Amino acid sequence: MIRSFTPEEAERAIQQLVELLIDAVDSGASVGFMPPLTEPEALDYWRGVIAAMHGGTRILLVAADGGLIQGSVQIGLDMRANGNHRAEAMKLFVHRRARRRGLARALMGEVEATARRIGRTLLLMDTRKGGEAEKMCEALGYVRFGEVPDYARSADGRLHATSFFYKQL
Ligand SMILES: CC(C)(COP(=O)(O)OP(=O)(O)OC[C@H]1O[C@@H](n2cnc3c(N)ncnc32)[C@H](O)[C@@H]1OP(=O)(O)O)[C@@H](O)C(=O)NCCC(=O)NCCS
Repeated sequence: MIRSFTPEEAERAIQQLVELLIDAVDSGASVGFMPPLTEPEALDYWRGVIAAMHGGTRILLVAADGGLIQGSVQIGLDMRANGNHRAEAMKLFVHRRARRRGLARALMGEVEATARRIGRTLLLMDTRKGGEAEKMCEALGYVRFGEVPDYARSADGRLHATSFFYKQL
């Protein structure tokens, strides 16, 4: 089941969210951190997300089996007057134990439904070139508008390219 968490729900589930992020980073995901990601660093990260949720600039969608969190994705809301029709799908993680069962596809479907509901008609997403999420963006009909070489560092320390996508809803 996928649903949007309140900041309070995120706070209550923070240990599972920490574990989800550490699993993603350990799996080699390029999501802003270098492995090994420590628990305090992951906690700090989620506290920042919760603060942004309180501030109304971030939405957190969570996929869970009963009480077990299997994946999450965030929607970053541009608040500028000329960009308040725009949002960014970001930090999509599915736990390794739950991959290839369609959860990312379902999470992204909910990102689109939520964005439409709140009047956001343009979604942006970027991801590591050649990674699983890039294939997913292509499969979900996102339009690639470019790639930047040497954009981010991989787990092995080398720089890799990032692909940029958009979808008009
Ligand atoms: C990318 C990720 C979120 C995919 O999650 P998932 O739940 O396994 O994905 P799904 O089962 O919903 O797959 C959706 C589509 O993505 C593509 N895809 C996902 N994993 C893939 C893989 N290992 N190899 C090739 N294509 C893949 C396929 O097109 C797939 O559609 P299909 O199953 O009909 O072929 C997951 O691998 C992950 O969390 N990776 C680490 C974090 C990360 O890189 N996040 C992206 C940062 S923006």
